[in-house]
Amino acid sequence: MIRNMNNVWDKLPANFTVLAPMEGVTDVVFRQVIARAGRPDVFFTEFTNVSSFASEEGRENALERLEVATGESPIIAQIWGKNPEHFAKLASALQELGLNMGCPDRHVNRTGGGAAMIQTPDLAIECIRQAKQATQLPVSVKTRLGYTRVEEFQEWIPLLLREGLVALTVHLRTRKEMSKVPAHYELIPKLVELRDQNAPQTKLIINGDIKDVKMSRALASQYAGVDGWMIGRGVFENPYCFTDHQPTKAELLDLLNLHLDLFNQQDQKLKAQRVAKTNFSWKDLDKHGNIRGLPYEPLKHYFKIYIHGFEGASELRARLMEAKNTTEVRRVLAQWQQITEAC
Ligand SMILES: Cc1cc2nc3c(=O)[nH]c(=O)nc-3n(C[C@H](O)[C@H](O)[C@H](O)COP(=O)(O)O)c2cc1C
Repeated sequence: MIRNMNNVWDKLPANFTVLAPMEGVTDVVFRQVIARAGRPDVFFTEFTNVSSFASEEGRENALERLEVATGESPIIAQIWGKNPEHFAKLASALQELGLNMGCPDRHVNRTGGGAAMIQTPDLAIECIRQAKQATQLPVSVKTRLGYTRVEEFQEWIPLLLREGLVALTVHLRTRKEMSKVPAHYELIPKLVELRDQNAPQTKLIINGDIKDVKMSRALASQYAGVDGWMIGRGVFENPYCFTDHQPTKAELLDLLNLHLDLFNQQDQKLKAQRVAKTNFSWKDLDKHGNIRGLPYEPLKHYFKIYIHGFEGASELRARLMEAKNTTEVRRVLAQWQQITEAC
């Protein structure tokens, strides 16, 4: 659980880097892998719904999503929702908050959360105020330029800045544009100007299509006044993207093995926590009646991050996709290593 009494944003270097929150990707296991490869200056958790936390049934799951490992600090708890009181409730339990007002997910937007907040600015401001008033927390927001039109940023961004945020991350696209058009880098000078006019103390973080730290340095030399650079999908191409290192095939395989180890540890930990509870509920059990841990299938999505860009990678990936658990994954990897070393 995140408990950090200091404002982390004040202690960061110039042109700091941030790993973007990515649902289903940047969980506590993957963040530890990235920390080992070469960490960003700031992490975000996957997002947690404030109303889940406020309800008895959803609280356990919300707490699991907010779990952090040692070595991850500074890390920002990314939260979303549309109920100002629930924002206050979750804020009271945390010490660093990142409010999500940019997520384009249809289910999230239908409830009025994520990027849909851009269309209800009064409610967005109320949520920020409740979160701040609950505990005097440093509150940051991650958002997009607008919902349907790029020009919306001219009103939306100053509105947010006037709330005295510690940091504002702008993904340089609208909700409508999703990730289908190039990020609007040409608007960076205007965003810097708006920040300087409305809230010079707020850290401005730019996000969208930044592949690695090298690219963030190039952007920094082109656009003055930005404080930090957030990288999302760049980690899929290179998990070492926060460093200047180009990993070898062996290093990528080592990283996959580390991911498997950390996955197993987290799985055991979750199971132990559920066993420690006095009464099991049906939610604690999987369809075979075993105690639920981390689901295995989503782990397969990570394979392509480590297994790409070398001869035989697609064949190896296909074989890994057939594995039913981490023991089988390790067996396939060991066999493949034996064969390639013998050749
Ligand atoms: C798989 C995936 C999941 C994402 N989940 C979230 C999320 O939970 N919250 C959020 O604010 N943005 C989310 N995003 C958007 C990213 O944080 C980021 O804004 C976007 O990918 C643009 O940055 P990039 O071009 O560096 O990837 C997600 C993106 C991807 C690809």
